[in-house]
Amino acid sequence: MAAGLGTRMKSRLPKVLHPIAGRPMLAYVIDAAREATGEKPLVVYSPQVAQICEVFADEAEFALQDEPRGTGDAVRVALAVLAEDVDEVIVMSGDVPLIAAESVSWMLETRRARGASMALAAVDEPDPSGYGRVIVERDDVAVRIVEEKDANDAERSVRLINGGLYAFEARWLRSAIDRLAPSPATGELYLTQLVELAGADGVPAAAVREREQGDWFYEFMGINDREDLSEVTPFIEYMVLQGHMVEGVTIADPSATWIDATVEIEADVTIEPNVVLRGKTRIARDTVIKSGSQIVDSTIGERCVVWASVIEASMVGNDVRIGPFAHLRSGCEVGDGAEIGNYAEQKNTRFGARSKQHHFSYLGDAEVGEDVNIGAGVITANYDGRAKHRTVIGKGAFIGSDTILRAPLTVGEGAYTGAGSVVTRDVPPGKLAVGVPARIRERLQKSSTEET
Ligand code: UD1
Ligand code: MG
Repeated sequence: MAAGLGTRMKSRLPKVLHPIAGRPMLAYVIDAAREATGEKPLVVYSPQVAQICEVFADEAEFALQDEPRGTGDAVRVALAVLAEDVDEVIVMSGDVPLIAAESVSWMLETRRARGASMALAAVDEPDPSGYGRVIVERDDVAVRIVEEKDANDAERSVRLINGGLYAFEARWLRSAIDRLAPSPATGELYLTQLVELAGADGVPAAAVREREQGDWFYEFMGINDREDLSEVTPFIEYMVLQGHMVEGVTIADPSATWIDATVEIEADVTIEPNVVLRGKTRIARDTVIKSGSQIVDSTIGERCVVWASVIEASMVGNDVRIGPFAHLRSGCEVGDGAEIGNYAEQKNTRFGARSKQHHFSYLGDAEVGEDVNIGAGVITANYDGRAKHRTVIGKGAFIGSDTILRAPLTVGEGAYTGAGSVVTRDVPPGKLAVGVPARIRERLQKSSTEET
């Protein structure tokens, strides 16, 4: 069920698409449903949250609830499109993302074992506010569920809550769903009213308690507002970190490390505190990501060191050293053994193997060969106010400190530029460019520029 408007989030984004560790909330629910049942789940959505269908086009089937008239109506809509031969139905809420696949399986097993028409997760909650309360007879038969807004004081003091996870015998569910009556308080059709109907039909609902060694005290945390979102998020974040640690990644301080569920990290990578890894990032073996780094949608090779730097949508080879305080903007490709130092920025640049860019300089839209030295303060003037232009620097070139390279421009292989030169035209291979604007000279064997 994901058709609700999620008004308590006060957001233009559908509630179940709010991201947790880089994935939409609903993705975790879909994963658990598929893992437990082996089937593609059927997601109930409404026109206001139709974005959901695009996001999960490959992972789910969809049923349209034209207006969210309550959870009972959501299930009615789903049943209308469900294949006739389905004999068991699991119902989950899109806003309860921590439920484990094992808990879903446990609901299925328990309903079958007890031969009940329906089973629901009844969870002991020290703070039950906001949830429906489960009224039980003996310990394991549910008699009624009272929504908080409809409850009297005695009912509100019950601490057994409805977790919003149900298993149904499909035939009984189909026979009962049209008998739901709107709540006098809200006019909604409550799925929870089925509990009373099951009792009346003589096939009472099973109240299912936590299996041994379960984690229900947090699994059933539902998200209705942004405060709930912030309470659930650390649990998912920790599960992500735990997954990496189990696979051999050192995470020095999990409480100060943020890694999206979409990130891949190989064994023997070390992550220091205050690191953020987002999106489709991949980090290969033996690399160290030092404090203060943020890496988004990027691939980092083996044995690299990244220190207090920002890397976006770029690819970094093996044995590369980056930072502190470097910034690779999108579209960079850095070759093996390269070094990118303090206050160095690159954008949309191919930077050859073993090349060095150490001190406060900018390479934009550049193609830099192997073994190039970029001196302190070098700038590619890639933008003339109207368009971006490319700078090509051949392998083995030496760009002197404070050189400005006015693009479009090619510096040939093994060419030199003098300190402070402003290069406005191509420098042939092996030549020297000096001055403002730079003139092309033969390189003297003992030129002082070689020592800059
Ligand atoms: C619901 C339960 C409550 C339970 C709680 C657990 C009902 C009436 N109440 O309350 O007993 O303790 O979940 O988290 O079921 N939805 C639709 N269509 C609708 C209405 C809702 O698809 O017409 C979806 C929502 O998008 C949401 C889920 O159903 O994902 C639950 O709806 P929500 O409004 O959050 O119900 P709660 O008030 O949390
Ligand atoms: Mg809810």
